[in-house]
Amino acid sequence: MPESSPCLILGVTGSIAAYKSLDLIRRLDGEGVSVHVVATRKALPFFPVATAEVFSGHPVETELFGGSLPPGEGLGRVPHLALLERADAVLVAPASADIIARMALGLADDLLSTLLLSARVPILVAPAMEEAMYLHPASQTHRKTLSDRGVREIPPDSGPLASGKSGLGRMASVDRILETLLPLLRKTRPVRGPLSGVRVLVSSGPTLEPLDSVRYLGNRSSGRMGEALAREALARGASVTLVSGPTALPPLPGCDLHPVTTAREMEERLRSLFPAHDLLIMAAAVSDYRPKEAVAGKRKKDGREWTLSLVENPDILKALSAMKGPGQVLVGFAAESSLDPERLLEKCRTKGVDLLVANDISRPDIGFSSPENEVTLVTPAGDFRTLPRADKSAIAGQILDAVTAHGWSKPA
Ligand SMILES: Cc1cc2nc3c(=O)[nH]c(=O)nc-3n(C[C@H](O)[C@H](O)[C@H](O)COP(=O)(O)O)c2cc1C
Repeated sequence: MPESSPCLILGVTGSIAAYKSLDLIRRLDGEGVSVHVVATRKALPFFPVATAEVFSGHPVETELFGGSLPPGEGLGRVPHLALLERADAVLVAPASADIIARMALGLADDLLSTLLLSARVPILVAPAMEEAMYLHPASQTHRKTLSDRGVREIPPDSGPLASGKSGLGRMASVDRILETLLPLLRKTRPVRGPLSGVRVLVSSGPTLEPLDSVRYLGNRSSGRMGEALAREALARGASVTLVSGPTALPPLPGCDLHPVTTAREMEERLRSLFPAHDLLIMAAAVSDYRPKEAVAGKRKKDGREWTLSLVENPDILKALSAMKGPGQVLVGFAAESSLDPERLLEKCRTKGVDLLVANDISRPDIGFSSPENEVTLVTPAGDFRTLPRADKSAIAGQILDAVTAHGWSKPA
């Protein structure tokens, strides 16, 4: 992991949820975060140390005295301070009732609690315990003390607990933890890259147009292409806003997510966000039509045909291109059943985009709902380039390379 990557100390305590920390370490590693695990002794029966060391690439530290940090190495005269030296944040996940109490009382009786008392970086806790422990007045008081001191709690979920009962106390999902943690880490140590300082707006996923209160007119867009573009822009240092129709994908950590449903909602949201961005990539599969009227409630079977009347949705790409200010760049996607160069060039020009990314939707192996894509890039000057079939993250990288190559990546 490069020196510039964000660094997290992950405290793991004696909860049955400790096994979930492994997934957390993997996901953080995938997001370019360097993770150092500090486990309490009572976490060890619940926590596969060797696996955590392989996933994180660092030894799991437990001991205040005689751990793997040799005295005298760097700041390592005092091991807990040596660990804190590079840390941008400390997250305790799972956080037992016991560590929450020890933190609130300022106890320092093992490596993790001593480190937490010495830390001057943001501290987050993701409690995991039985409902009775979580709601106990002692725990409530301790949580309030921590919150007053600026410790951020990622609240637990309700659901099945280790005891077999159901209730409040399941550790927040890894997705939810990352949603809170990654923006904070990225603020402390922003990613430096070719898109540093560039504000990127991405539209993604399908739009769904209601027919009645339960049915809709939709399309097969999975949202993977838009997500890959947002992820790649983040990795290159951009700040990213994602406006997405409903998809099955977990929220992308680190970006500002705006969920929408219909084409008109998407248009409204993009219109309000576009002026504050440098680059807009319209990867959403916006429904061209919507039912003229949605039936109130659920339409019941009545033995008769149901004839739908559809009206055109607004052309969002065209509308946003008309709003484009100086220095703003617009990349549009087009789903085409044939890649006729003349038609593509005309579309690129009439839509007023700086780069058109054309998908061939007649091919079942790429595009909609596939993890792979093959696209043709078209500029208004008539430059054509086909990006051969590859997974969507590789295609996203090449699209952003094309944007950078045109010198469009400078912040306005
Ligand atoms: C099987 C088992 C499961 C436990 N699960 C939890 C838990 O989910 N949350 C919790 O706060 N304590 C749990 N405990 C109790 C803690 O392990 C205990 O309070 C311990 O002192 C916590 O120490 P630590 O905070 O130093 O890790 C569990 C204990 C056992 C034996």
